[in-house]
Amino acid sequence: MAQSSSAHRSGAPIPIPDKLSVQIRINGVETTLNIAPWTTLLDALRDHLDLTGTKKGCDHGQCGACTVLVDGRRINSCLVLAVMKDGASITTIEGLAMKDRLHPLQQAFIDHDAFQCGYCTPGQICSAAGLIAEGKAKSVDEIRELMSGNICRCGAYPNIVAAIQQAMGQMDGKP
Ligand code: FES
Ligand code: FES
Repeated sequence: MAQSSSAHRSGAPIPIPDKLSVQIRINGVETTLNIAPWTTLLDALRDHLDLTGTKKGCDHGQCGACTVLVDGRRINSCLVLAVMKDGASITTIEGLAMKDRLHPLQQAFIDHDAFQCGYCTPGQICSAAGLIAEGKAKSVDEIRELMSGNICRCGAYPNIVAAIQQAMGQMDGKP
């Protein structure tokens, strides 16, 4: 059986603050949030920063619609609390384009018609940026395997893989 904490043993209630201050860098902008400690990173982005490009699909780590880059690595933002990422640098779909030039993955998704409803697309693109930075996927099968956490209910998978292949050839391992 798990040990209870000393606070529990003493019978004293554990104080939980209503709000905590979190400092994060979002798409290159230093940002301070005062949020409830149980706020997920996904809800912080969507509800507190109006960055609604990041989508909520399942809200429990099974669809990949909420994928963002944290310090360059792809994560499901529904599975982490914002307070756990205090001090981190976060890139969302809104931060990928370079001024008026689309990110190579965004352009490739257009070129290959790699979406239908588009709901999964921000997560697919952020995940693909992380995948390319990881440098592990060399073949179509490896792209499919390493993108398997991103579900597309419209079944646009062949076009998504083709788009990633195109961008991979242009990005040289950069996110
Ligand atoms: Fe996060 Fe589905 S909304 S994985
Ligand atoms: Fe509709 Fe992927 S384009 S879920």
